[in-house]
Formats: sequence, C-alpha cells, structure tokens
Amino acid sequence: MTAAVPAGGEPLDHAALPDGFLWGVATAAYQVEGAVAEGGRGPSIWDTFSHTPGKVAGGDTGDVACDHYHRWREDLGLIKELNAGAYRFSVAWPRVLPAGDGPVNAEGLDFYDRLVDGLLAEGIEPFPTLYHWDLPQALQDRGGWPRRETAEHFAHFASVVTERLGDRVKNWATLNEPLCSAWIGHLEGTMAPGISDLTAAVRASYHLLLGHGLATRAIRAAVPDARVGIVLNLSPVDPATGSPADAAAARRMDGHTNRWWLDPLHGRGFPQDMTDLYGVELPLRDGDLDTVAQPLDWLGLNYYMPAVVTDDPAGRAPYARAVRRLHVPRTGMDWEIDANGIERLLLRLTEEYGARKIYVTENGSAWPDVVGVDGGVDDPDRVRYLEDHLAACTRALRKGAPLAGYFAWSLMDNFEWAYGYDKRFGLVHVDYKTQKRTVKTSGRRYAELVAGHRRRGGHPA
Ligand code: FCB
Repeated sequence: MTAAVPAGGEPLDHAALPDGFLWGVATAAYQVEGAVAEGGRGPSIWDTFSHTPGKVAGGDTGDVACDHYHRWREDLGLIKELNAGAYRFSVAWPRVLPAGDGPVNAEGLDFYDRLVDGLLAEGIEPFPTLYHWDLPQALQDRGGWPRRETAEHFAHFASVVTERLGDRVKNWATLNEPLCSAWIGHLEGTMAPGISDLTAAVRASYHLLLGHGLATRAIRAAVPDARVGIVLNLSPVDPATGSPADAAAARRMDGHTNRWWLDPLHGRGFPQDMTDLYGVELPLRDGDLDTVAQPLDWLGLNYYMPAVVTDDPAGRAPYARAVRRLHVPRTGMDWEIDANGIERLLLRLTEEYGARKIYVTENGSAWPDVVGVDGGVDDPDRVRYLEDHLAACTRALRKGAPLAGYFAWSLMDNFEWAYGYDKRFGLVHVDYKTQKRTVKTSGRRYAELVAGHRRRGGHPA
C-alpha cells in the first residue's frame, strides 16, 4: 500500500484552478446502494430490467451492488481518504415515493437525511442528483416518461426531497443524462425501460426536459437559495471523412447528442433540423418552452469520449453511426480516449451557450483492475486518464471556461448498468464477494492532487 504513485500524463496546472474549486467523487443510487427490498423501497425500472434475462451482462442486478445503503459510513471514510470536498450521489425516487406518487416513505427520506448529516459532519459538501435513471416501476406501468404526468410527478418528488434536505443541501441536480433515459432507454432499448420506438423516445426526451423545468421551479420554491443545475453527457462530434455525407451525418449526430438538450435548456427551442428529422410531433403546450428554459445556476458536464461518425442512411435516427477508429487508445469499455474532447466541450458551452458556471459532474475510465499479491490495486491507465483530462480542464480554464469543480466517476467500482459488475470505474476497488474496499493507485493520486491544490492555498471545497 505504500508503493510510490507513478507519474501519469501531464502535471497539473494548479494555478489555473479558481479559488473554491470543488473536488468531488460521484456515484448513483441504483449502482451502489443495493438493499432494493429494504427500508420500504419500491421497485424501479432498473430492478425490472436487470431481472429480465439477457438484458444485463452476466445476469447481474443491483440487488446488493456495493451495499452502500448499509455501508455508507465506511464509504464516507473513503471519500475523506480521497480528500474529496464534495460527494455527488443520487436520491432513489422509489425509496422516497415507492409508488412514484402517493405516500412518502419516511424511512427512505431518513436514509438520505442521515447521509447528508454524515457528509456535513465530515466537511464534505452533498451534491445530490434527483433522477439517475431509477423511475419507480409503478410510473412506468402508467406510461413512464413518454407521458406528461411523469414530469409532474417528478416535480412533486423534487419538492418532497428538497423540503426535507434543503435546509442543509444547496446544490441540486435535476436529471442525470436525459440522453440515456430517452435515446438509450426508449430508442436503442439497451437500457431500462428497454423500449425501441422513436415516437416514445422523442416524447420521453420532451417530458424529461419538462420535468427538469418543473422540478427546478419546485426546488426553488422549497429552497430559495438553492443552486440548481442539470447534468448532460455531451460529446464533440466529428465526421469520419471529408465527404459531404459524413459532414451532414456529424451535424445530425451533434443535434441528437448535444443540441437537442442544450438548445431548449438555453431558451432556443428544440432544433428545427432535428424535429424535422425525427418527424414526431412534440407534445408542446403553451409555456412549456419557458419552463424548460429556467435559468440554470450551473451546468453539469459528463464527459467520457468523443464521437466520430459516418453517414448511415439504413440505420435508425439520426442516421449516423460511430466508427471505430484504428490506432487510437481505448479504455476497458472500448471507448476512445481523447482528453481534448473535454476542453472542446467546456469551451463550446462557454462560447456558444454562454455558460456561467460549469461542473464536470462525471469523468473517468474503466479498466480490468486486479488486486495484486500485496493487496493493492495498481491502475496506471486510470491515473493517466485522470491526469490528462484534468490537464485539459485547466487548459479550458485558461481560455475562459467557468469551470468550478470536477467529480471523478466513480468513488468506487459499482453496477455499470447493462455491463454489470464487469466494468470497473472506481478510484476504490470493490471485492463484491466480501464488500472489501481497497483504494487504488488512482485514488491515492486523486488525494495527492487535491492535497497539492490545498497546499497552494486553494480552498478545498
Ligand atoms: C454515465 C452514467 C454513470 C456511469 C458512467 C460510466 O453515463 O451517468 O452512471 O455509468 O456513465
């Protein structure tokens, strides 16, 4: 455990980081909590999906996950050991409102109340997300996100949670990656609820954004000094070749991945080229676009990889397909590594969308980590990924991006959705048989980087 931490990529340009830069780590409820049938929790669409044969690699489910529901105090110790000043977690809607609407489950709210108090007692800022994909199954049974009522129920859930925790918690994220809920969950069908239908997907995307807007209002009504944001997974999109067909494909993929979300959130409405392409009538009502475009206190960027695409007229919307480029480095997810991508996105959000405050709410990489004979977990690839992406963040800062913090994905290895437990993203290794946690070399490197920032006088959180 005392092995020297290897040098990774570029050294960190500490001087570029603003005062108060927030160093965090992130998780999500279904990926870590387990205890799915305890404490009055109702089922979510991810319970249903993961228990459907063939949907998740290895037949894995989140039934136990990292058992964070019981081990959160120990995990708080790990957050401290990593020197993180903030913890991004998500509040499981089915723990708080087991049927989606209807009665509040006091035991569920109590869990998050204790977690928040535990964090604050350790000087760690709670940074909750209200929706990280775990829709109560009862609401799915009534139509799910393609129905407008789901957006209204989400705003109610946001009120219940923020009325309880808002005296202590000021930073709130509404949705995590609505792209995945809408496009992967309702169009590609490889995530819960596992639907493949363009009309359902477009309607889901609309109601997710509406739900964000309604929830933003609800949070501000409950917590007047709340700082509300949304978390988007964005990618810079480039054409695979110089052909006009690939250039058009890249424009469509950019619309599907980036503009479909960013434009309405910034008061520009839904991009016309994409509504034409989808050909699905939006369930627009008067005032909805203003609701979606509530001013954001901050924007959360999740960045993993760039997209290089080619024209795919025979495929599904947006008729553009990612190509697998040769001779480029990839993570254990087979995702292309390109640290410049995070710099490009931070600058685009600043220059094209006028972002005033951005957090990188997720960034990280999966590798086939193994516990060594000395009991340690040495993960030089993750160290390099971390350092290279942080370096790209500091370059964006030097060019004017208002980046206020960075959350590593993830605090610890966890249930990686359709990939199950096979893909490990943690700064901390989890042995799922024993639930033993081991801080990886990358975790120690992260702790060192934060300590370096503090030594230079940067306020830790
Ligand atoms: C993001 C998710 C997060 C995690 C990472 C690897 O899309 O928000 O829960 O699974 O990918």
